[in-house]
Amino acid sequence: MKTFYIETFGCQMNVHDSEKVIGTLNQQGYSQVATPEEAGLVLYNTCSIRDKAEQKVFHRLQQFQKEAGKSGKVYGVLGCVAQQEGERIFERAPHVSLVVGSASYPKLPELLVQIESGGRRVTGLSLDTEETFETSFTRRDNPHRAYITIIEGCDKACAYCVVPRTRGPERSRTAASILAEARQLAASGYTEIQLLGQNVNSYRDPSPGGARFAQLLREVGAVEGLRRVRFTTSHPRDFTRDIIEAMDGNPVLCNHVHLPVQSGSDRVLSNMQRLYTRGEYMRRIEWMKHSHRNIAITTDIIVGFCGETGEDFEETIRLVEEVGYDSMFSFKYSQRPNTPALSLTDHVPEEEKARRLSILQEKQRGIQMRRNAAYIGERHEVMAEYFNQATGQWVGRTAQNKTLNFLLGGRPAPTPGQYLDVLVTRSGPNSLAGEACA
Ligand code: SAH
Ligand code: SF4
Ligand code: F3S
Repeated sequence: MKTFYIETFGCQMNVHDSEKVIGTLNQQGYSQVATPEEAGLVLYNTCSIRDKAEQKVFHRLQQFQKEAGKSGKVYGVLGCVAQQEGERIFERAPHVSLVVGSASYPKLPELLVQIESGGRRVTGLSLDTEETFETSFTRRDNPHRAYITIIEGCDKACAYCVVPRTRGPERSRTAASILAEARQLAASGYTEIQLLGQNVNSYRDPSPGGARFAQLLREVGAVEGLRRVRFTTSHPRDFTRDIIEAMDGNPVLCNHVHLPVQSGSDRVLSNMQRLYTRGEYMRRIEWMKHSHRNIAITTDIIVGFCGETGEDFEETIRLVEEVGYDSMFSFKYSQRPNTPALSLTDHVPEEEKARRLSILQEKQRGIQMRRNAAYIGERHEVMAEYFNQATGQWVGRTAQNKTLNFLLGGRPAPTPGQYLDVLVTRSGPNSLAGEACA
Protein backbone atom coordinates (compact mmCIF):
# COMPACT_ATOMS: atom_id res chain seq x y z
CA MET A 1 0.00 0.00 0.00
CA LYS A 2 1.24 3.48 -0.88
CA THR A 3 1.24 5.73 2.19
CA PHE A 4 2.20 9.33 2.91
CA TYR A 5 2.64 11.65 5.86
CA ILE A 6 2.47 15.43 5.48
CA GLU A 7 3.34 18.30 7.78
CA THR A 8 2.43 21.90 6.95
CA PHE A 9 3.89 25.23 7.93
CA GLY A 10 3.05 28.79 6.94
CA CYS A 11 0.02 30.80 5.89
CA GLN A 12 -3.52 29.78 4.98
CA MET A 13 -2.47 29.48 1.34
CA ASN A 14 -0.04 26.77 2.38
CA VAL A 15 -2.60 25.03 4.57
CA HIS A 16 -5.02 24.98 1.67
CA ASP A 17 -2.29 23.86 -0.76
CA SER A 18 -1.70 20.87 1.50
CA GLU A 19 -5.42 20.03 1.27
CA LYS A 20 -5.03 20.04 -2.51
CA VAL A 21 -1.86 17.93 -2.35
CA ILE A 22 -3.57 15.40 -0.04
CA GLY A 23 -6.49 15.16 -2.47
CA THR A 24 -4.13 14.62 -5.39
CA LEU A 25 -2.19 11.92 -3.54
CA ASN A 26 -5.42 10.13 -2.61
CA GLN A 27 -6.36 10.27 -6.27
CA GLN A 28 -3.02 8.61 -7.11
CA GLY A 29 -3.73 5.73 -4.71
CA TYR A 30 -1.83 6.99 -1.65
CA SER A 31 -3.39 6.94 1.81
CA GLN A 32 -2.52 9.38 4.54
CA VAL A 33 -0.98 8.13 7.80
CA ALA A 34 -0.50 9.93 11.10
CA THR A 35 3.26 9.55 11.65
CA PRO A 36 6.41 9.67 9.49
CA GLU A 37 7.37 6.18 10.73
CA GLU A 38 4.35 4.58 9.08
CA ALA A 39 4.75 6.45 5.80
CA GLY A 40 6.46 5.52 2.55
CA LEU A 41 6.43 9.15 1.43
CA VAL A 42 7.19 11.90 3.96
CA LEU A 43 6.25 15.41 2.81
CA TYR A 44 6.99 18.75 4.38
CA ASN A 45 5.14 21.86 3.10
CA THR A 46 7.37 24.79 4.04
CA CYS A 47 7.32 28.56 4.66
CA SER A 48 10.13 31.00 4.01
CA ILE A 49 8.60 34.29 5.11
CA ARG A 50 11.11 34.91 7.91
CA ASP A 51 14.53 33.43 8.57
CA LYS A 52 13.33 31.43 11.59
CA ALA A 53 10.75 29.65 9.48
CA GLU A 54 13.38 28.64 6.97
CA GLN A 55 15.85 27.44 9.60
CA LYS A 56 13.14 25.21 11.02
CA VAL A 57 12.92 23.40 7.71
CA PHE A 58 16.39 21.87 7.67
CA HIS A 59 16.20 21.07 11.34
CA ARG A 60 12.85 19.31 10.87
CA LEU A 61 14.10 17.42 7.80
CA GLN A 62 16.89 15.95 9.90
CA GLN A 63 14.46 15.03 12.65
CA PHE A 64 12.25 13.24 10.14
CA GLN A 65 15.19 11.12 9.14
CA LYS A 66 15.85 10.21 12.78
CA GLU A 67 12.18 9.49 13.50
CA ALA A 68 11.41 7.59 10.36
CA GLY A 69 14.72 6.06 9.34
CA LYS A 70 16.04 6.17 5.82
CA SER A 71 15.44 2.73 4.39
CA GLY A 72 13.09 2.76 1.44
CA LYS A 73 11.46 6.04 2.34
CA VAL A 74 11.03 9.00 0.05
CA TYR A 75 11.33 12.51 1.51
CA GLY A 76 9.83 15.50 -0.27
CA VAL A 77 9.96 19.25 0.36
CA LEU A 78 7.07 21.36 -0.89
CA GLY A 79 6.13 25.04 -0.70
CA CYS A 80 8.06 28.27 -0.42
CA VAL A 81 11.44 26.97 0.78
CA ALA A 82 11.31 24.33 -1.98
CA GLN A 83 10.80 27.05 -4.59
CA GLN A 84 13.41 29.34 -3.04
CA GLU A 85 16.18 26.81 -2.48
CA GLY A 86 15.41 24.46 -5.39
CA GLU A 87 18.12 21.87 -6.03
CA ARG A 88 20.28 23.23 -3.19
CA ILE A 89 17.96 21.27 -0.88
CA PHE A 90 19.44 18.02 -2.22
CA GLU A 91 22.88 19.21 -1.07
CA ARG A 92 21.76 20.38 2.36
CA ALA A 93 19.48 17.40 3.02
CA PRO A 94 20.72 14.48 0.89
CA HIS A 95 17.90 12.15 2.00
CA VAL A 96 15.40 14.37 0.16
CA SER A 97 14.52 13.25 -3.35
CA LEU A 98 11.51 15.41 -4.27
CA VAL A 99 11.41 19.24 -4.31
CA VAL A 100 8.25 20.97 -5.56
CA GLY A 101 7.13 24.61 -5.42
CA SER A 102 3.45 25.52 -5.15
CA ALA A 103 3.09 26.57 -8.80
CA SER A 104 4.01 23.02 -9.86
CA TYR A 105 1.51 21.06 -7.75
CA PRO A 106 -0.70 20.40 -10.77
CA LYS A 107 2.27 18.35 -12.05
CA LEU A 108 2.42 16.20 -8.90
CA PRO A 109 0.89 13.10 -10.54
CA GLU A 110 3.73 12.94 -13.12
CA LEU A 111 6.37 13.77 -10.53
CA LEU A 112 5.09 10.92 -8.34
CA VAL A 113 5.42 8.51 -11.26
CA GLN A 114 9.09 9.53 -11.59
CA ILE A 115 9.59 8.98 -7.85
CA GLU A 116 7.85 5.59 -7.94
CA SER A 117 10.16 4.46 -10.72
CA GLY A 118 13.18 5.25 -8.57
CA GLY A 119 13.82 8.93 -9.42
CA ARG A 120 16.39 10.40 -7.04
CA ARG A 121 16.30 14.15 -7.63
CA VAL A 122 12.86 14.96 -8.91
CA THR A 123 11.89 18.64 -9.08
CA GLY A 124 8.91 20.81 -10.00
CA LEU A 125 10.20 24.35 -9.85
CA SER A 126 8.78 26.17 -12.85
CA LEU A 127 6.91 29.37 -11.97
CA ASP A 128 5.41 30.01 -15.39
CA THR A 129 2.94 27.14 -15.29
CA GLU A 130 -0.38 27.88 -16.93
CA GLU A 131 -2.04 24.85 -15.41
CA THR A 132 -4.35 25.25 -12.48
CA PHE A 133 -5.38 22.75 -9.90
CA GLU A 134 -8.16 20.25 -10.48
CA THR A 135 -10.07 21.44 -7.42
CA SER A 136 -12.46 18.52 -7.22
CA PHE A 137 -9.63 16.46 -5.64
CA THR A 138 -9.16 18.84 -2.71
CA ARG A 139 -9.34 16.98 0.59
CA ARG A 140 -10.69 19.53 3.09
CA ASP A 141 -9.82 19.24 6.74
CA ASN A 142 -12.78 21.10 8.26
CA PRO A 143 -16.35 20.04 7.37
CA HIS A 144 -17.90 23.51 7.92
CA ARG A 145 -15.36 26.11 6.81
CA ALA A 146 -13.64 25.84 3.44
CA TYR A 147 -10.85 27.75 1.74
CA ILE A 148 -11.09 28.65 -1.93
CA THR A 149 -8.05 30.04 -3.76
CA ILE A 150 -9.10 32.86 -6.08
CA ILE A 151 -5.68 34.18 -7.07
CA GLU A 152 -2.21 32.63 -6.93
CA GLY A 153 1.12 34.48 -6.72
CA CYS A 154 1.86 38.16 -6.22
CA ASP A 155 2.81 40.97 -8.61
CA LYS A 156 3.85 43.44 -5.92
CA ALA A 157 7.51 43.92 -5.02
CA CYS A 158 7.52 44.75 -1.31
CA ALA A 159 11.21 45.14 -0.54
CA TYR A 160 11.28 42.67 2.38
CA CYS A 161 9.16 39.89 0.92
CA VAL A 162 10.02 36.51 -0.63
CA VAL A 163 6.50 35.69 -1.82
CA PRO A 164 6.71 37.04 -5.41
CA ARG A 165 9.71 34.73 -5.89
CA THR A 166 8.34 31.74 -4.02
CA ARG A 167 4.87 31.82 -5.52
CA GLY A 168 5.44 33.52 -8.83
CA PRO A 169 3.38 36.06 -10.74
CA GLU A 170 -0.35 36.63 -10.18
CA ARG A 171 -2.76 34.20 -11.80
CA SER A 172 -6.49 34.74 -11.17
CA ARG A 173 -8.94 31.86 -11.51
CA THR A 174 -12.09 32.38 -13.56
CA ALA A 175 -15.11 33.56 -11.59
CA ALA A 176 -17.06 30.68 -13.16
CA SER A 177 -14.77 28.06 -11.62
CA ILE A 178 -14.69 29.86 -8.24
CA LEU A 179 -18.49 30.07 -8.17
CA ALA A 180 -18.83 26.44 -9.22
CA GLU A 181 -16.56 25.41 -6.33
CA ALA A 182 -18.49 27.64 -3.89
CA ARG A 183 -21.84 26.16 -5.00
CA GLN A 184 -20.53 22.64 -4.77
CA LEU A 185 -19.21 23.32 -1.25
CA ALA A 186 -22.51 24.88 -0.16
CA ALA A 187 -24.37 21.87 -1.58
CA SER A 188 -22.19 19.52 0.46
CA GLY A 189 -22.95 21.37 3.71
CA TYR A 190 -20.27 24.05 4.05
CA THR A 191 -21.65 27.33 5.40
CA GLU A 192 -18.44 29.36 5.65
CA ILE A 193 -16.02 30.12 2.87
CA GLN A 194 -12.75 31.98 2.95
CA LEU A 195 -11.47 33.38 -0.33
CA LEU A 196 -7.68 33.23 -0.44
CA GLY A 197 -4.88 35.07 -2.21
CA GLN A 198 -1.72 37.00 -1.30
CA ASN A 199 -3.56 40.04 -2.64
CA VAL A 200 -7.22 39.25 -3.25
CA ASN A 201 -7.92 42.89 -4.16
CA SER A 202 -6.00 42.60 -7.42
CA TYR A 203 -8.26 39.72 -8.52
CA ARG A 204 -9.45 40.01 -12.09
CA ASP A 205 -11.49 37.31 -13.81
CA PRO A 206 -9.39 36.30 -16.84
CA SER A 207 -12.57 35.72 -18.91
CA PRO A 208 -13.55 38.49 -21.36
CA GLY A 209 -15.07 41.47 -19.51
CA GLY A 210 -13.87 39.82 -16.30
CA ALA A 211 -15.15 40.85 -12.88
CA ARG A 212 -13.00 42.59 -10.28
CA PHE A 213 -12.84 41.50 -6.65
CA ALA A 214 -15.87 43.41 -5.29
CA GLN A 215 -18.06 41.88 -7.99
CA LEU A 216 -16.75 38.37 -7.27
CA LEU A 217 -17.43 38.95 -3.57
CA ARG A 218 -21.02 39.94 -4.33
CA GLU A 219 -21.52 36.82 -6.40
CA VAL A 220 -19.97 34.43 -3.88
CA GLY A 221 -22.01 36.14 -1.13
CA ALA A 222 -25.18 35.32 -3.09
CA VAL A 223 -24.50 31.56 -3.30
CA GLU A 224 -27.40 29.80 -1.67
CA GLY A 225 -26.59 28.03 1.59
CA LEU A 226 -23.54 30.13 2.53
CA ARG A 227 -23.80 32.08 5.79
CA ARG A 228 -20.31 33.51 6.06
CA VAL A 229 -17.88 34.61 3.38
CA ARG A 230 -14.45 35.90 4.38
CA PHE A 231 -11.42 36.94 2.38
CA THR A 232 -7.69 37.42 2.96
CA THR A 233 -5.29 39.14 2.33
CA SER A 234 -6.07 42.67 1.20
CA HIS A 235 -3.40 45.01 -0.11
CA PRO A 236 -4.19 48.66 0.77
CA ARG A 237 -3.14 49.94 -2.65
CA ASP A 238 -5.76 47.79 -4.42
CA PHE A 239 -8.45 47.96 -1.73
CA THR A 240 -11.38 49.78 -3.36
CA ARG A 241 -14.44 51.38 -1.85
CA ASP A 242 -16.83 49.06 -3.67
CA ILE A 243 -15.58 46.22 -1.43
CA ILE A 244 -17.07 48.07 1.57
CA GLU A 245 -20.22 48.78 -0.44
CA ALA A 246 -20.55 45.05 -1.17
CA MET A 247 -20.17 44.31 2.56
CA ASP A 248 -22.72 46.98 3.41
CA GLY A 249 -25.20 45.32 1.07
CA ASN A 250 -24.97 41.70 2.23
CA PRO A 251 -24.59 40.45 5.82
CA VAL A 252 -23.22 37.13 4.53
CA LEU A 253 -19.99 39.02 3.71
CA CYS A 254 -18.33 39.01 7.13
CA ASN A 255 -17.59 42.36 8.75
CA HIS A 256 -13.85 41.84 9.08
CA VAL A 257 -11.02 43.22 6.95
CA HIS A 258 -7.37 42.25 7.36
CA LEU A 259 -5.50 45.23 5.92
CA PRO A 260 -1.74 44.95 6.57
CA VAL A 261 -0.19 48.40 7.04
CA GLN A 262 3.43 47.31 7.85
CA SER A 263 4.44 50.81 9.06
CA GLY A 264 2.92 54.17 9.96
CA SER A 265 5.81 56.18 8.49
CA ASP A 266 5.68 57.40 4.89
CA ARG A 267 9.45 57.20 4.67
CA VAL A 268 9.49 53.54 5.73
CA LEU A 269 6.48 52.68 3.54
CA SER A 270 8.35 54.15 0.59
CA ASN A 271 11.53 52.18 1.41
CA MET A 272 9.38 49.07 1.70
CA GLN A 273 7.92 49.80 -1.76
CA ARG A 274 4.42 49.37 -0.39
CA LEU A 275 2.92 51.76 -2.99
CA TYR A 276 0.68 53.74 -0.62
CA THR A 277 1.12 56.55 1.90
CA ARG A 278 -0.08 56.67 5.46
CA GLY A 279 -2.78 59.14 4.31
CA GLU A 280 -4.03 56.78 1.59
CA TYR A 281 -4.13 53.93 4.08
CA MET A 282 -6.07 56.02 6.59
CA ARG A 283 -8.60 56.94 3.91
CA ARG A 284 -9.44 53.25 3.55
CA ILE A 285 -9.78 52.98 7.32
CA GLU A 286 -12.22 55.92 7.18
CA TRP A 287 -14.32 54.11 4.54
CA MET A 288 -14.60 51.17 6.90
CA LYS A 289 -15.43 53.32 9.90
CA HIS A 290 -18.23 54.99 7.91
CA SER A 291 -19.72 51.65 6.92
CA HIS A 292 -23.19 50.69 8.21
CA ARG A 293 -21.57 47.56 9.58
CA ASN A 294 -19.24 47.41 12.58
CA ILE A 295 -16.18 46.19 10.64
CA ALA A 296 -13.36 44.59 12.63
CA ILE A 297 -10.00 45.73 11.30
CA THR A 298 -6.80 43.70 11.73
CA THR A 299 -3.29 44.24 10.42
CA ASP A 300 0.34 43.12 10.07
CA ILE A 301 3.26 45.30 11.15
CA ILE A 302 7.00 44.94 10.64
CA VAL A 303 9.25 46.78 13.10
CA GLY A 304 12.91 47.59 12.55
CA PHE A 305 12.89 47.63 8.76
CA CYS A 306 16.16 49.07 7.34
CA GLY A 307 16.43 52.78 8.13
CA GLU A 308 13.48 52.86 10.57
CA THR A 309 14.27 55.62 13.09
CA GLY A 310 12.80 56.09 16.54
CA GLU A 311 10.56 58.80 15.06
CA ASP A 312 9.36 56.46 12.27
CA PHE A 313 8.48 53.89 14.90
CA GLU A 314 6.58 56.52 16.91
CA GLU A 315 4.51 57.17 13.80
CA THR A 316 3.61 53.49 13.68
CA ILE A 317 2.54 53.63 17.33
CA ARG A 318 0.41 56.71 16.62
CA LEU A 319 -1.23 55.01 13.63
CA VAL A 320 -2.02 51.93 15.72
CA GLU A 321 -3.70 54.14 18.32
CA GLU A 322 -5.59 56.08 15.69
CA VAL A 323 -6.97 52.99 13.92
CA GLY A 324 -7.64 50.96 17.07
CA TYR A 325 -7.08 47.53 15.51
CA ASP A 326 -9.06 44.52 16.72
CA SER A 327 -5.99 42.35 16.35
CA MET A 328 -2.49 42.49 14.94
CA PHE A 329 0.35 40.25 13.80
CA SER A 330 3.66 41.98 14.42
CA PHE A 331 7.17 40.92 13.44
CA LYS A 332 10.78 42.00 13.63
CA TYR A 333 12.13 42.63 10.16
CA SER A 334 14.01 39.56 8.93
CA GLN A 335 16.36 39.81 5.97
CA ARG A 336 15.41 37.37 3.21
CA PRO A 337 17.23 35.94 0.18
CA ASN A 338 16.62 37.44 -3.29
CA THR A 339 14.59 40.39 -1.95
CA PRO A 340 15.03 44.05 -3.01
CA ALA A 341 15.79 45.07 0.61
CA LEU A 342 19.10 43.17 0.51
CA SER A 343 20.67 46.27 -1.05
CA LEU A 344 19.67 48.44 1.93
CA THR A 345 22.38 48.87 4.54
CA ASP A 346 20.94 50.91 7.37
CA HIS A 347 20.12 48.00 9.68
CA VAL A 348 18.36 48.42 13.00
CA PRO A 349 20.20 46.44 15.72
CA GLU A 350 18.47 43.23 16.81
CA GLU A 351 17.97 44.42 20.44
CA GLU A 352 16.34 47.62 19.20
CA LYS A 353 13.97 45.62 16.99
CA ALA A 354 13.05 43.49 20.00
CA ARG A 355 12.50 46.60 22.12
CA ARG A 356 10.22 48.19 19.51
CA LEU A 357 8.30 44.94 19.05
CA SER A 358 7.54 44.64 22.73
CA ILE A 359 6.45 48.31 22.98
CA LEU A 360 4.15 47.80 20.00
CA GLN A 361 2.69 44.57 21.37
CA GLU A 362 2.11 46.12 24.78
CA LYS A 363 0.32 49.09 23.15
CA GLN A 364 -1.83 46.75 21.06
CA ARG A 365 -2.72 44.62 24.08
CA GLY A 366 -4.19 47.69 25.79
CA ILE A 367 -6.17 48.58 22.67
CA GLN A 368 -7.59 45.04 22.41
CA MET A 369 -8.56 45.03 26.11
CA ARG A 370 -10.47 48.26 25.56
CA ARG A 371 -12.07 47.25 22.30
CA ASN A 372 -13.14 43.82 23.50
CA ALA A 373 -14.61 45.25 26.73
CA ALA A 374 -17.03 47.28 24.60
CA TYR A 375 -18.71 44.02 23.48
CA ILE A 376 -19.93 43.17 26.99
CA GLY A 377 -23.72 43.14 27.03
CA GLU A 378 -24.01 42.55 23.25
CA ARG A 379 -25.38 39.45 21.54
CA HIS A 380 -23.27 37.92 18.80
CA GLU A 381 -23.86 35.00 16.53
CA VAL A 382 -21.11 32.39 16.67
CA MET A 383 -20.32 29.31 14.69
CA ALA A 384 -19.65 26.66 17.35
CA GLU A 385 -16.28 24.99 16.79
CA TYR A 386 -15.52 22.56 19.62
CA PHE A 387 -15.90 21.91 23.34
CA ASN A 388 -12.78 22.79 25.30
CA GLN A 389 -12.42 20.15 28.04
CA ALA A 390 -9.81 22.19 29.92
CA THR A 391 -12.01 25.27 30.37
CA GLY A 392 -15.42 23.58 30.27
CA GLN A 393 -16.53 26.05 27.60
CA TRP A 394 -17.54 25.86 23.97
CA VAL A 395 -15.37 27.77 21.53
CA GLY A 396 -16.95 29.73 18.72
CA ARG A 397 -16.15 32.52 16.32
CA THR A 398 -18.13 35.65 15.59
CA ALA A 399 -18.59 37.09 12.11
CA GLN A 400 -15.83 39.55 12.99
CA ASN A 401 -13.58 36.51 13.52
CA LYS A 402 -13.31 37.05 17.27
CA THR A 403 -13.03 33.99 19.49
CA LEU A 404 -16.06 33.83 21.79
CA ASN A 405 -15.93 31.13 24.50
CA PHE A 406 -19.33 30.29 25.90
CA LEU A 407 -21.29 28.29 28.45
CA LEU A 408 -24.55 26.69 27.47
CA GLY A 409 -26.63 28.07 30.36
CA GLY A 410 -28.77 24.92 30.43
CA ARG A 411 -29.29 24.86 26.66
CA PRO A 412 -28.60 21.71 24.64
CA ALA A 413 -25.03 21.25 23.41
CA PRO A 414 -24.55 22.44 19.82
CA THR A 415 -22.90 20.33 17.17
CA PRO A 416 -19.71 21.78 15.69
CA GLY A 417 -20.61 24.02 12.75
CA GLN A 418 -23.94 25.06 14.29
CA TYR A 419 -24.76 28.78 14.62
CA LEU A 420 -26.12 30.21 17.85
CA ASP A 421 -26.46 33.54 19.63
CA VAL A 422 -24.27 34.26 22.61
CA LEU A 423 -24.55 37.08 25.14
CA VAL A 424 -21.07 38.49 25.84
CA THR A 425 -20.47 38.78 29.59
CA ARG A 426 -16.67 39.01 29.90
CA SER A 427 -13.70 40.02 27.79
CA GLY A 428 -9.93 39.69 27.67
CA PRO A 429 -7.27 40.97 25.29
CA ASN A 430 -7.57 38.02 22.91
CA SER A 431 -11.10 36.71 23.31
CA LEU A 432 -14.63 37.25 24.57
CA ALA A 433 -16.66 35.02 26.86
CA GLY A 434 -20.39 34.64 27.38
CA GLU A 435 -23.47 32.44 27.60
CA ALA A 436 -25.63 30.97 24.85
CA CYS A 437 -28.90 32.86 24.64
CA ALA A 438 -30.68 31.49 21.58
N1 SAH B 1 0.42 39.07 1.04
C1 SAH B 1 0.21 39.50 2.33
C2 SAH B 1 1.11 38.99 3.41
C3 SAH B 1 2.21 38.09 3.15
S1 SAH B 1 3.25 37.62 4.43
C4 SAH B 1 0.27 41.00 2.34
O1 SAH B 1 0.72 41.62 1.42
O2 SAH B 1 -0.13 41.56 3.30
C5 SAH B 1 2.48 37.99 5.95
C6 SAH B 1 3.17 39.05 6.73
O3 SAH B 1 4.48 38.66 7.08
C7 SAH B 1 3.35 40.37 6.02
O4 SAH B 1 2.21 41.15 6.01
C8 SAH B 1 4.47 41.00 6.79
O5 SAH B 1 4.00 41.75 7.88
C9 SAH B 1 5.27 39.82 7.32
N2 SAH B 1 6.54 39.68 6.61
C10 SAH B 1 6.75 39.43 5.31
N3 SAH B 1 8.08 39.41 5.03
C11 SAH B 1 8.72 39.67 6.19
C12 SAH B 1 10.10 39.80 6.56
N4 SAH B 1 11.07 39.67 5.67
N5 SAH B 1 10.38 40.06 7.86
C13 SAH B 1 9.40 40.20 8.78
N6 SAH B 1 8.09 40.08 8.49
C14 SAH B 1 7.75 39.83 7.21
FE1 SF4 C 1 4.70 40.03 -0.12
FE2 SF4 C 1 3.95 42.50 -0.65
FE3 SF4 C 1 3.12 40.49 -2.20
FE4 SF4 C 1 2.18 40.73 0.26
S1 SF4 C 1 1.87 42.18 -1.42
S2 SF4 C 1 2.89 38.87 -0.69
S3 SF4 C 1 3.93 41.52 1.39
S4 SF4 C 1 5.21 41.22 -1.99
FE1 F3S D 1 5.15 31.44 4.08
FE2 F3S D 1 4.96 31.06 1.51
FE3 F3S D 1 2.81 31.64 2.92
S1 F3S D 1 6.59 32.09 2.52
S2 F3S D 1 3.61 32.92 4.53
S3 F3S D 1 4.02 29.82 3.12
S4 F3S D 1 3.28 32.33 0.88
